[in-house]
Amino acid sequence: MPTITMGRDSGDLEQYGPKLGTGFLGRHLVGEKKEAHTANPVRIDIARPHVVGVFGKRGSGKSYTLAVVTEELMNLQEEIKDNVSAIVIDTMGIYWSMKFPNDRQVNLLHEWNLKPQPLNTTHYIPEGQVEKFKENEIPFDKTFTLNPGELTASDWSMAFNIEPDEPQGILLDRAMRDLKSEKGNSYSLDDVIHYIRQAEGFEQQTKAALENRFYTAKDWGVFDEPGTDLNELTSRGESIVLDVSLFGAISGGWSVRTLLVGLLAKKILTERMRARRVEEIEEMEGMASSEMPIVWAILDEAHTFVPREGETPASVPLREWVKLGREPGVSLVLATQMPNKLHEDVIAQMDLLLSHRLTAKSDIDYLRNIMQTYMRYDLATYLDNLPRMPGAAICLDDNSERIYPIQVRPRLSWHGGGTPIAIKQQVQQTDTGEQEWKKHV
Ligand SMILES: Nc1ncnc2c1ncn2[C@@H]1O[C@H](COP(=O)(O)OP(=O)(O)OP(=O)(O)O)[C@@H](O)[C@H]1O
Ligand SMILES: [Mg+2]
Repeated sequence: MPTITMGRDSGDLEQYGPKLGTGFLGRHLVGEKKEAHTANPVRIDIARPHVVGVFGKRGSGKSYTLAVVTEELMNLQEEIKDNVSAIVIDTMGIYWSMKFPNDRQVNLLHEWNLKPQPLNTTHYIPEGQVEKFKENEIPFDKTFTLNPGELTASDWSMAFNIEPDEPQGILLDRAMRDLKSEKGNSYSLDDVIHYIRQAEGFEQQTKAALENRFYTAKDWGVFDEPGTDLNELTSRGESIVLDVSLFGAISGGWSVRTLLVGLLAKKILTERMRARRVEEIEEMEGMASSEMPIVWAILDEAHTFVPREGETPASVPLREWVKLGREPGVSLVLATQMPNKLHEDVIAQMDLLLSHRLTAKSDIDYLRNIMQTYMRYDLATYLDNLPRMPGAAICLDDNSERIYPIQVRPRLSWHGGGTPIAIKQQVQQTDTGEQEWKKHV
């Protein structure tokens, strides 16, 4: 059965074939609705950078598909895998379960000739949340921190929702400028609070309000100098899960997530651009080597990071990433339930799009307007013809200008959903899951 390889251009197909440097995503769906059945294997190119969009309504299989992509990144042949690194930004606390085999869908896996298999990921949690994770009995491997000195006044004002020209914004700007000129990038949130307290020429109320915001930021438990080294988060051939799920329960939770993603995206892009220059010089000198792996960042609930309306601290870094990423070699996989709420520049840059079932007309209209010049039928017709099964999707490939209905393959590793506690109960339901779980707690 000929393989369909999404995202691979004809030159690469000729040179490398359909399998090398690609991952098994699922199978082509032939027929419509209930009549649909799986046929040829569908693979996704991983050797080149891509911007992949994963859309679909609630429960249609988006988070599951993101994990399938992550599994495939880590399933690459050793030499190729060594040039890749995957970071999953886990907003829901559902990806740590990748460390467990998918014993829940053994029969389904069997039908696909696959077997449950745990994924070797490193689960990072914010340094200040160790106790909370322990209380919730969620296993983790390592902690991470971010250096507050790397954030700008504009990052903070977006995170705190402060206008730059209001008194708090002006004080914030001055604080950042003075602290940076005095201490470079190495200052703590306590230094910022101290600066605000001592500042002259501002009303007490302004100072107290801004100070409070920085106390809130301290409670997030993630800002501390010098911050986790980026190289640790982008190790060759490894995948990591950055668990930011518990921020959801605390004040300003979304702000800290967007600050974190913005900062990471900025750093990874800058570092990759530097690495790319070094690689090019080496290539010219005849010494081919790769300085930093191609980073694949995997981001669920993407509309909250780079929304269509309004800006978050992650908006500009992510838009830059999708615009410039091809050259330095950074890939992004973005999922959202509401493409309609995702910034159009990001959608316009997507070269691979997987849409599970979508029913909201506003979402379909929005996608239709931005994409698909090569569709024979209307997007709604393609989506309507999908069987009503989780994991069914239409695949738009900008490289081949083709559209395929596909069924995403079952996961090898355990799919977590719902709250962390619910996951724990689910894990305990299966024998091997329970044994694995007990090893961790
Ligand atoms: N490819 C697939 N094969 C088999 N089962 C799947 C597949 N994709 C999804 N499922 C099933 O559907 C359920 C929902 O999938 P998932 O959690 O990915 O939904 P979602 O689109 O992320 O939903 P939400 O918008 O609520 O986050 C999963 O728990 C799993 O049981
Ligand atoms: Mg989901």
